[in-house]
Amino acid sequence: MTNFIKPVIWEGDAIRLLNQQKLPREVEYIFLKTIEDVWNSITELKVRGAPAIGITAAFGLALWAKNSGLNELEILKSELAVKAVYLNSSRPTAVNLSWALQRLLKAAEEEASAAKVIERLETEAILIQQQDEETCKRIGEYGFSLLPDDATVLTHCNTGAIATSKYGTALGAFYIAKEQGSDIHVYATETRPVLQGARLTAWELQQADIAVTLITDNMAAHVLKTKNIDAILVGADRITANGDTANKIGTYGLAILAKAHGIPFYVAAPLSTIDLETATGDDIVIEERHAEEITHIGGKRIAPEDINVFNPAFDVTPHGLISGIVTEKGIVTGDYQTKLKALFEGVTV
Ligand code: MRU
Repeated sequence: MTNFIKPVIWEGDAIRLLNQQKLPREVEYIFLKTIEDVWNSITELKVRGAPAIGITAAFGLALWAKNSGLNELEILKSELAVKAVYLNSSRPTAVNLSWALQRLLKAAEEEASAAKVIERLETEAILIQQQDEETCKRIGEYGFSLLPDDATVLTHCNTGAIATSKYGTALGAFYIAKEQGSDIHVYATETRPVLQGARLTAWELQQADIAVTLITDNMAAHVLKTKNIDAILVGADRITANGDTANKIGTYGLAILAKAHGIPFYVAAPLSTIDLETATGDDIVIEERHAEEITHIGGKRIAPEDINVFNPAFDVTPHGLISGIVTEKGIVTGDYQTKLKALFEGVTV
């Protein structure tokens, strides 16, 4: 059995968080005690990956409520709404963040006293994390079902246990492969500029004893052409009603390369990443991050002073390039517009 490392641990009066900025050099846990700690950790990518930031924000809101000292129901509820907006502003692209916060606010609406709201927020946040474990396992099983025996696959960014609560999404399929005795081999792109592939995916898979080969992003076309890649599996930060998918910058390019090489390109994500309120990928807000992520490596400047930099953290893959979207309720192919909506109506695809 795989020994999964937990990225987010609820301590009742604090969040114990795996500091992903320090990996793989150091496995450090930090304690988040205030809502500002939570906001900063999400913004600074100490916790990252769509489901993991949703879980952290949920605990952040529950923690704030617990420490608020508010005992007047209406005041607490209106303050909660303000704090949810604040936490939601920490990163704009992954919809799991607002999904988790909205779920807590909705739960709060069902309670009749401030004390009950505070209690309910905590249990709801715990539930979100627990349900994500089961969700990811299912996604992993469905993802694995798409792969041939002893598959060779390529993935981008980090979609593993540390980006979720356990297993991960795209990486969930590789963990299940390993658990089922299949000899999977994963090519992991380093994922410039923040290096989630090199620092996190390479480390996570190595820890789990899954065969992993690290490549730079610009080697992907060559690897697809020469290494008998069976499929590309990636995660998602937001999937719109028509199936367009925002994911780590570079994903769109990989989807084009997959098509050029006749290789299936799958997106693996929970329903909490599907945003039916947003019609197409053109409507997704793409986060732009600091220039230093590009001009510096390991704290050392590699580009000239005052150079202009464009640093979008995500891109959007049009649904037409996606061979299938793997969810906890099954694999969606073809008419995403109709079938994604059906997922929320209790239909298993
Ligand atoms: O900037 P990051 O590291 O939060 O980006 C993460 C990704 O793009 C992941 O692919 C996505 O969140 C899915 S994680 C299961």
